[in-house]
Amino acid sequence: MDPINETIDRVLAGYKTAERSDLIPILQDIQDSIGYVHKDAVSKIGTKLNLPPSKIFGVLTFYNQFRTEPPGRYHIMVCRGTACHVKGSEKILKTVQNTLKIEPGQTTRDGLFSLEIVACVGACGLSPVINISGEFYARVTPDSVREILKTLKSEAKEEAKRDV
Ligand code: FES
Repeated sequence: MDPINETIDRVLAGYKTAERSDLIPILQDIQDSIGYVHKDAVSKIGTKLNLPPSKIFGVLTFYNQFRTEPPGRYHIMVCRGTACHVKGSEKILKTVQNTLKIEPGQTTRDGLFSLEIVACVGACGLSPVINISGEFYARVTPDSVREILKTLKSEAKEEAKRDV
């Protein structure tokens, strides 16, 4: 069995008497373990909880904390907590979405960027804040975000050239 399916089975085995109310915790555990909710997990969870896949996909798409694709090389978290909201995080989110042409929960086709919306990350004094693969960027603006994305893209290009 491949490692992804092994991990899914291991997570599910941890829920001995699983009920439908365990759906969200199970999805969270799977995402924590492999970085996203792999499509194979949907059918396995469906069997375990006796739920149709459509119901599980509904939950996956309703909550934007869930990803159904592997995270990109640069995982972007846009804070949508109150302080960041007041300082214009909605515009920041739209800028990332429009620049990369992805929605929260998705990864760009080249696998470079993925996007997630998060609640307050505890750095309200620096709002609006984004975090890219663990690094915080403070008081971002739509322009600075476009610039950051451009820089990361060319960084990745340079690295790819070096690796050839
Ligand atoms: S609201 Fe964004 S860091 Fe607190």
